[in-house]
Amino acid sequence: MKKFSEATKQQVQAYLELYPKREAALLPILHIAQKEFGFLDEEVELAVAELMDLSPVTVRETSMFYFMFHRHPIGKYHFQVCHNISCTLMGAETILDHLKNRLGIEDGQRTEDGLFSVERVECIACCDRGPAMLVNDQLHTDLTPQKLDDLIKKYDPKRKFEEPGKTEESRSDSR
Ligand code: FES
Repeated sequence: MKKFSEATKQQVQAYLELYPKREAALLPILHIAQKEFGFLDEEVELAVAELMDLSPVTVRETSMFYFMFHRHPIGKYHFQVCHNISCTLMGAETILDHLKNRLGIEDGQRTEDGLFSVERVECIACCDRGPAMLVNDQLHTDLTPQKLDDLIKKYDPKRKFEEPGKTEESRSDSR
């Protein structure tokens, strides 16, 4: 089972003392656990349950309900693309396809260099400005393929994009 650092245990204790019921401290403590381990898998859930003296089922139900908790390692830049109705009508699937093509990964995967990951998520409350997504905790709206390319290049200036049938070299040859 995963072990929390002493500093984290003290933080957890402080949260437990803030609330009359232990369950009420679960959300902030899950955030602390995710910060410490990077994601919340079964081992981390068990460690949280033991530390808080809650049932593992209670911890699992809560961690699985919220999309901000991750069950596997994510990239340094985590793209969470809304695929609910308003964003879908505005082209969310095109945005997701473009991202997956550019990064060479599927939903729920991380690039080999650990830099990027992509996940489709439920509504992020920006329905009038879709397609919308979060990159870590930063909101991006009115997405277009060009905006995605600009963002990826901003986070990874050395990244090269391959067009179907063309390489970076062949494009520069034709200029
Ligand atoms: S439907 Fe996409 S933000 Fe609400």
